[in-house]
Amino acid sequence: MIVVTGATGNVGRALVDRLLAAGRPVRALTRDPRRAALPEAAEVVRFRPDDPGALFAGATHLFLYALPDAAPLLAAAREHGVRHVVLLSSGIVREGADETHPIHVMHATAERQIRDSGLAWTFLRPNAFATNALQWAPQIRRGDTVRGVFADGLSAPIHEDDIAAVAERVLLDGGHEGAVHRLTGPGATSNADQVATIGEVLGRKLAFVEIDPAEAGPELFPHVPPPMLGRLLESFAETVGVPPEITGTVEELTGTPARTFARWAEDHAGDFRTP
Ligand SMILES: NC(=O)c1ccc[n+]([C@@H]2O[C@H](COP(=O)([O-])OP(=O)(O)OC[C@H]3O[C@@H](n4cnc5c(N)ncnc54)[C@H](OP(=O)(O)O)[C@@H]3O)[C@@H](O)[C@H]2O)c1
Repeated sequence: MIVVTGATGNVGRALVDRLLAAGRPVRALTRDPRRAALPEAAEVVRFRPDDPGALFAGATHLFLYALPDAAPLLAAAREHGVRHVVLLSSGIVREGADETHPIHVMHATAERQIRDSGLAWTFLRPNAFATNALQWAPQIRRGDTVRGVFADGLSAPIHEDDIAAVAERVLLDGGHEGAVHRLTGPGATSNADQVATIGEVLGRKLAFVEIDPAEAGPELFPHVPPPMLGRLLESFAETVGVPPEITGTVEELTGTPARTFARWAEDHAGDFRTP
């Protein structure tokens, strides 16, 4: 049995689908099973971080999203026979990182708690998700102009299903214990280029209008916890004109090249169309 936290998330949902397709039993955790819309073949269980004991009966593997304090969950997992935990960490954890950055703190803390847990572990450290482009979806549904910060900010966005594909291999193949996998998409693209690419997929000409980061409020970043926004904008500023890290890890581990941003936009075209 493989326990998947964040099972309704971008990566978690894709991983649940993959594990079920591979014929593996999956326990999918969500705080709200009624709204989760998870596949019937998954065992859907309410995630109560304060009562983790009930989550792990019969489980051998855990796919974990970083939590502010994962220690009780890890202790319960070990007690119930889980052997291997695969963490969805972040590329922000690296040599020379700003260790005070809140996103670093969250993921580095989870990594440390896992190293201390006595469980075998594998850390996935993806950089920017292609799903971050969904921040522009409300504007694109309304019109042809996208207001955003740092038009020339560069990243190598990764498709959520490529992260899930790597997680699937790590969970099912074994041999990745103690490994840290840095994951990126296949090529660099700027924020303005991403908006243009979404426009091409939709058959529309979209314009990226750069705004002053000081004017960027939470409405432009619905997926970002408001206390983190300031530091995140500072991180975005550092991406302007700077070539991003690009790794070949997705292809090395899955045998299939990482999908391009254009492919991601095709897969998500419906998210940008008016219903
Ligand atoms: N976005 C990026 O560029 C990027 C880059 C590197 C790493 N990451 C990391 O990747 C993760 C996000 O992945 P994603 O996009 O797949 O996530 P997501 O779509 O935001 O989904 C996260 C899921 O976790 C559950 N969840 C949210 N808050 C929770 C809480 N406080 N306690 C327990 N469960 C909670 C939610 O499920 P329920 O509501 O059903 O419980 C939600 O569906 C984060 O850890 C992030 O730091 C992101």
